[in-house]
Amino acid sequence: MKGVILAGGKGTRLGRHTLVTNKHLVAVGKYPMIEYPLATLRRMGVNDITVVTGAEHAGAIVNYLIHAHPGVDFTFKVQKEAGGIAQALALVENVAKGDCIAVILGDNVFDADFSGDVKDFKDGALLFVKEVLDAQRFGVAEVQGSRIVSIEEKPKMPKSNLAVTGLYVFDSSVFDKIKTLKPSARGEFEITDVNNLYIKDGNASYRVVRGFWSDAGTHQSRNHAEKFVEESGYDPLQF
Ligand code: G1P
Repeated sequence: MKGVILAGGKGTRLGRHTLVTNKHLVAVGKYPMIEYPLATLRRMGVNDITVVTGAEHAGAIVNYLIHAHPGVDFTFKVQKEAGGIAQALALVENVAKGDCIAVILGDNVFDADFSGDVKDFKDGALLFVKEVLDAQRFGVAEVQGSRIVSIEEKPKMPKSNLAVTGLYVFDSSVFDKIKTLKPSARGEFEITDVNNLYIKDGNASYRVVRGFWSDAGTHQSRNHAEKFVEESGYDPLQF
């Protein structure tokens, strides 16, 4: 299994921080944000990792990662315009070379070890959900027993309080699925539309995330993630 960290986008929700650096280098606790998704992939035993960055400050993120983690086999891709998470993922097709991929958003902080959840993964999509209080901010899953019925992206009236987190495991059909997508109302190629294609094919399963999860892409969520790492002592370098 190969890994993908999606660290594109302009990071405008973090305001002035991202004028001077890449959003994913903004600190959460003692470390740049990207250390957290990187640790999550490495706990899964994934060491061949493609990082997709936006064009702005791309050099800074490459420079940081190759020096901080000489033992990781990194590939870098640049998403020249911000056209959504699925568009960023499409850039990885020729690196994945038919393998399954574990994809994580560069602003997602988890502390759990998912290696057991992914070890028998063969095909389809495996999604990770978590109960939240502010479901409108996320992709929201409607589930029946062990089945996901649908996902809605940032619904005004969420059908559940189960957010779809930014960790996904996909088989290699993901790239053909992305090619069939149309941009959403906000002009982006949405990862939720990709996941809904797997659901339609009856090929999506899910796990409930154990432990902590937060994104860190807004001031409020970054503060929340920071409070967690400070209070728990969770250290992504000790993955
Ligand atoms: C993205 C996804 C959303 C998901 C969230 C998790 O939203 O579109 O489905 O729930 O990440 O962090 P974004 O943070 O890009 O608005």
